[in-house]
Amino acid sequence: MPIQIVRNDITKMEVDAIVNAANPTLMGGGGVDGAIHRAAGPGLLEECMHLGRCPEGEAKITGGHNLHCKYIIHTVGPIWEGGKYGEKETLESCYMRSLELAKEHGCETVAFPLISAGAYGYPRAEALRVAIDSVSRFLEDNDMTVYIVIFDRASFEIGEKLFRDIEEYIDDRYADEHAESRESRLLRSEMPRKNIFGSIMPTASADMAPAPKPAASSLDEAMKQLDESFSEMLLRKIDEEGMTDAQCYKKANIDRKLFSKIRSDKNYRPSKPTAIAFAIALELPLDETREMLEKAGFALSHASKFDIIIEYFIEHGNYNIFEINEALFAFDQSLLGA
Ligand code: APR
Repeated sequence: MPIQIVRNDITKMEVDAIVNAANPTLMGGGGVDGAIHRAAGPGLLEECMHLGRCPEGEAKITGGHNLHCKYIIHTVGPIWEGGKYGEKETLESCYMRSLELAKEHGCETVAFPLISAGAYGYPRAEALRVAIDSVSRFLEDNDMTVYIVIFDRASFEIGEKLFRDIEEYIDDRYADEHAESRESRLLRSEMPRKNIFGSIMPTASADMAPAPKPAASSLDEAMKQLDESFSEMLLRKIDEEGMTDAQCYKKANIDRKLFSKIRSDKNYRPSKPTAIAFAIALELPLDETREMLEKAGFALSHASKFDIIIEYFIEHGNYNIFEINEALFAFDQSLLGA
């Protein structure tokens, strides 16, 4: 999964490079800067003394010292002054310059804290958005695994309105699923399904359902009736959408190696998050998402918060997998991609 949001202490991350939210002196400080210097040991400060100052938006690299990483990349984020003094561009530059340095040093895995989202006062939801957008832009042309490390729940918001919206959407469905008796559930399954806008969702009625195939006369015949597999449908939809393979798997937050496995094996069985990630990348409507999932042996269920959150984003036409992952993370669910 090229971009992962994880809850951890960045000094515990076992990656090629961790990024430090430093100040221009590079002489250490509080927050993540202090934690990294404490964990790395005095040798880090010794090395930093020879680096000189680091301007805002720029990055400099040292060894990992006592940390579980080869390198520490020190970058200096903007101090938030209301958003009208180029803070966003400076923050974007912190991520891009750090990633370029990591690439120059052959790093395959990099971990970032939420730069500027602490003492420097950058609003956390926006700081996360800039992090995700900058990293995903870099990964369009580069293969790397990047972790956005969230230190504590308090430092993680997806925006109050969105969080509340999703919470209500879940409550409407999750509660029903878990509270109603079996009889009313059966009754409900006969009732027309409504989408969030109140209009009745088309149901697969007899005249809409494909005519049942005649029973196969032999095993050979049955094998011929096998439906299109998951990977066959995936490749067909990529062609129909006029996408390249790379555009699809990057939009799905899937790494290149896994995609080539799926491409080369028509009977490949993906995990559910992987199957959904491709449906999101292809921007499939709910019914086609269900069809694609079915081919991988899965279904969307209102007994699962993960599924309901996916349904929420598809119903709202929001196919930004990184926004969906932020929401999944905020609700303690596994993330999309692989
Ligand atoms: N692991 C991961 N993230 C952490 C950790 C940790 N051990 N400690 C703190 N964080 C998170 C904070 O919760 C925040 O979301 O890092 C983010 C950045 O917070 P700060 O460390 O305060 O960094 P920043 O806002 O960029 O301010 C930089 O603070 O420590 C000084 O010397 C530093 O002057 C510089 C300023």
